[in-house]
Amino acid sequence: MRRIWLGLVAMTTVGAAPSYHGEVRPILERRCVGCHRTGEIGPMQFGSFAEVRPWAKSIRQAVAKGTMPPWHADSAKSVAFHNDRSLTAAEKKTLLDWVDAGAPEGKPGAATVSATPAGGWQLGKPDLIVRVPKMPIPASGTIQYTFLVTPTDLPEAKWMAAAEWKIDQRSVVHHINAFVRPKGSSYVADAPAGQFFVASKASRGARRPDEREADRRELLLGYEPGYRPIPWGEGRAKLLPKGADIVFEMHYTANGKALSDESELGIYFAKSAPKERVLTITPADSAFAIPPGDGNFPSSTGATLQRDLTLLSMQPHMHLRGKSYRITARYPDGRVENLIDVPKYDFNWQTTYFLAQPKSLPKGTVLECLAHFDNSPNNRFNPDPGQTVRWGDQSWEEMNIGFMEVVFPAAADPDVVTLSGTTRPGSAAPTR
Ligand code: HEC
Repeated sequence: MRRIWLGLVAMTTVGAAPSYHGEVRPILERRCVGCHRTGEIGPMQFGSFAEVRPWAKSIRQAVAKGTMPPWHADSAKSVAFHNDRSLTAAEKKTLLDWVDAGAPEGKPGAATVSATPAGGWQLGKPDLIVRVPKMPIPASGTIQYTFLVTPTDLPEAKWMAAAEWKIDQRSVVHHINAFVRPKGSSYVADAPAGQFFVASKASRGARRPDEREADRRELLLGYEPGYRPIPWGEGRAKLLPKGADIVFEMHYTANGKALSDESELGIYFAKSAPKERVLTITPADSAFAIPPGDGNFPSSTGATLQRDLTLLSMQPHMHLRGKSYRITARYPDGRVENLIDVPKYDFNWQTTYFLAQPKSLPKGTVLECLAHFDNSPNNRFNPDPGQTVRWGDQSWEEMNIGFMEVVFPAAADPDVVTLSGTTRPGSAAPTR
């Protein structure tokens, strides 16, 4: 009798529901509080039981559907990423079991470790700070994708060992990309420096015949919520050419309060000449025309590597009709490897995916970027399923760009990759 009773106690303990203070709080702190705290982009705070409890049902829904935490790569079909935000299967189960058990509080334990971000620059004092001067953010409405050109006026070229964002109004900055624009570039060439503007299609799409992408612009650094600075690595640097400008491309979302944003980009110069150069390559397909109503329109582009190099990161880029994105490596020996698969692309999350292990790619490897667009009425973000959609800067136009950071010897010609141009599945040889 007595033995059976003990056995039952043991069983209930093993099957005990997780509690907030027991198992749940550490998961929220690790995976959610970075965005769900005061001043951050998450619309509600998850800092205490009282704050979390009313959201238990929505948390269950978001976690079960996989919409939270926001992370769009399918880990089973991608390489491992350093900045992977997704929940492990065990964490997911704990959160779901907790809500299903009535979201019990449990016994408060030791005081919470504060997840407040350290103020100031994480990598130390930058050598050069480039500022966004008071960008006005209205309380409501859609804010157009806004540009700003800031001259650096550097008298000589500089190697950058790292760059870091110091975001001012984290609650409204959805993403910012900073580009290096070399002197003489055709990219938004007619834009006045130091003034906010919405780029025209013509100025953004402009390019001189044979202008190389790296001479036109190079993605320096992206910001999105949850961002942490990741230096490029010992002995590696990006180039800031003499007289180059920094072009900011900013995506803000109104949050009910009028604000102004003065975010900053900090640049750290290399102490000595780097061994290796880091370059963001930009394979792009701009030749597509997506028919009205087409729910799964493919567009593919890519790069054939002209030398051995190392891949550090990938940032797939499409707009509101973006449906899915995949980047594969086709090796010279015929092997094909999925590098990233984003089955449900979300324009609102312009994630840079940093490889947990930088990947060596031999000369001759073809990096293929395959985008699919959904121009059907089933796509709830689709501004107009009745239009034929072509390349363009505005979110109701489309893009297929696979930004990738690659590394190669610093002395080598930066034109290390060749765009293989627009290829469509089933089409003949690539056209350039
Ligand atoms: C990288 C930032 C970020 C992280 C990390 C994050 N959230 Fe969110 N969360 C948001 C934003 C922003 C929204 C507002 C809706 C949107 O933009 O998608 C949101 C909305 C929500 C909502 C409202 C309902 C919904 O689905 O929109 C819930 C619930 C939620 N988050 C739960 C969580 C939980 C639980 C975690 C951790 C397991 C988490 N979030 C991690 C940014 C984040």
